[in-house]
Amino acid sequence: MNRDINRSWQMTGFGLSKLQPAQGKIPAPRPHELLVRIKAISLNYKDRMILDGVLIPDLVFPFVPTSDAVGEVVAVGGGVSRFQAGQRVLGQVIADWPDGDAPPVLHQHTLGLSLPGTLSDYVLLHEDAVVLAPPSLSDAEASTLPIAALTAWFALAEATKPVPGQTVLIQGTGGVSLFALQFAAAFGLRAIVTSSSDDKLERARKLGAWQVINYRTQPAWDEAARDLTGGTGVNHILEMVGGDNARRSLDALAADGRLSVIGLLGSMELSFPIVPFLRNRIVVQGISIGHRRAFERMNQAIEVLGIRPVVDKVFGFEEVEQAFQHLEKGPFGKVVVATS
Ligand SMILES: NC(=O)c1ccc[n+]([C@@H]2O[C@H](COP(=O)([O-])OP(=O)(O)OC[C@H]3O[C@@H](n4cnc5c(N)ncnc54)[C@H](OP(=O)(O)O)[C@@H]3O)[C@@H](O)[C@H]2O)c1
Repeated sequence: MNRDINRSWQMTGFGLSKLQPAQGKIPAPRPHELLVRIKAISLNYKDRMILDGVLIPDLVFPFVPTSDAVGEVVAVGGGVSRFQAGQRVLGQVIADWPDGDAPPVLHQHTLGLSLPGTLSDYVLLHEDAVVLAPPSLSDAEASTLPIAALTAWFALAEATKPVPGQTVLIQGTGGVSLFALQFAAAFGLRAIVTSSSDDKLERARKLGAWQVINYRTQPAWDEAARDLTGGTGVNHILEMVGGDNARRSLDALAADGRLSVIGLLGSMELSFPIVPFLRNRIVVQGISIGHRRAFERMNQAIEVLGIRPVVDKVFGFEEVEQAFQHLEKGPFGKVVVATS
């Protein structure tokens, strides 16, 4: 591989066929920037939504998509003090959210959304929007953390604190959901996992699921969840779907239950009746990935807890199209693209 050029995949329009290979110069870091040689990139559901023109209809082309990647710092710009060449790092996706309250207008500085993405050999990252990768993880594993893992961590360990023994219902076995399952099991939460596939549910059990429900064969999964909790309902639900699915989530929640709204797999809207909110004092919280401090804490926990991200398949850099097609099939675990 020629390390003097910067290979990228650029969107020249909407649709997978408009994602084209491109070559350019390796950029030079400006003050407070790091030049990072990317080793592995992982794909998220939202990358496909961007490719299809659903998430950012007014996107300006050409655009390099994807947000999640691990790489090595190969050069630093003037004034950089937080990192040095040779360190293995991950980009903080919401680049202007170091800690505390979110920026007043969210996603004005988000990798692969309002900022260029990571589907390149080299990227420039501001030193304030970078964290060290957990040393125990392979490149493919580490690349999966910035969105999928941090979103799950934020819902379970930042927006609320885990209480061992409480129940959490995790919808589906996508990237965010599998991390949520692994964290929940490590925290001593009793995780109920739903999936359309008995085979995936079996694998979820091996990852620590307490109970499983097939939402295809048991569409009234809310009733099944209530039954599994002896009629009291679930303490916390990660809403990954939206639409009418949220109505079932509300039905499945216990008194003082929490609904973390994360995904829009089924709809861009939520539909709820009001009375169950009042009767059960339900808390609803939207989740938007997370801040850098949470990312650093999560990486520390991943090391201590020995959590290994579930990687379904690693593709070569020339196989980006196949990688996105594989994502469509609903893999069990993350889809990763390696640069070499
Ligand atoms: N708010 C945030 O910060 C944030 C961050 C990351 C992702 N997201 C959103 O969260 C969602 C999941 O993202 P991801 O990257 O984890 O997606 P993903 O890896 O592509 O997950 C897809 C999985 O979702 C499950 N699913 C689909 N329809 C379902 C339904 N009706 N009920 C239950 N599960 C269903 C399926 O699981 P089975 O095959 O097991 O049925 C499918 O395999 C997306 O909408 C994404 O945009 C939001």
